[in-house]
Amino acid sequence: MNDNRPIGVFDSGVGGLTVAREIKRLLPHENIIYFGDTKHLPYGDKSKETITKFTKKITKFLVKQNCKAIVVACNSATSNSIEAIREAAGDTLVIDVINPVAKKVAYELHQKIGVIATKATVNSHAYQSYIKKYNRHLKVIELATPLLVPIIEEGFRNTPVSKNALESYLSYKKFEDIDTIILGCTHYPLIEKEVNAVFQGRVKVVDSPLIVVNELIHEMEKDNLMGNSPNPTYQFYLSDYTENFAKLAKQIFGKSISLEQKKL
Ligand code: SIN
Repeated sequence: MNDNRPIGVFDSGVGGLTVAREIKRLLPHENIIYFGDTKHLPYGDKSKETITKFTKKITKFLVKQNCKAIVVACNSATSNSIEAIREAAGDTLVIDVINPVAKKVAYELHQKIGVIATKATVNSHAYQSYIKKYNRHLKVIELATPLLVPIIEEGFRNTPVSKNALESYLSYKKFEDIDTIILGCTHYPLIEKEVNAVFQGRVKVVDSPLIVVNELIHEMEKDNLMGNSPNPTYQFYLSDYTENFAKLAKQIFGKSISLEQKKL
């Protein structure tokens, strides 16, 4: 029997679209409900209490929308509030964006891994502790790169602004001999090409959205949650309308998406 209830996905803004895009690609018969908390972004410089307050509300909203699974497509939310989110979700399957990535990189042939992320994620040391839980021999260097989310949300990708910020951040001394980098914020895959250009192919960039969605598929298959909607719907809720979000969501999901404002 197919389960055609929607998959819920949320983030502070456009970042989670990198995960939703991968869900659409690998699960083309699933309905998706996306919540972007654009009113309160970025989460990355907020306190744990504040992030938890917003993310619990979003989780409850998605449960009310009858979501069969919730993907926390935000590293700042995962690293600060995952327990509270799981509690708010009750029996609904919850997939986060850090644990699946940590597990995958820990068992591959890496030696020194760099992580760039928001301040909230870096201060929690979530990547360090998750990766070391699976492989304590790996070296993990975390760096907060707080300018990148506003640059992406304001539409400054592929411009001298993003290039200069990345060159400055990635020249971090401790990154000199990393062999792998994790983009520890769901916004950052949107500037992955620019990250690659700075490293000139010397460093492997981990494909986090792919890893996360593979984990989602694995768990949905286990729990008998796979859907088979012939014409899946893509619904977007924003706590504040932003032109950049609407533009990017339409680019990825097509012009016929439904986009509504929802108070949080
Ligand atoms: C943010 O809201 O600061 C970024 C989202 C993330 O951490 O993935």
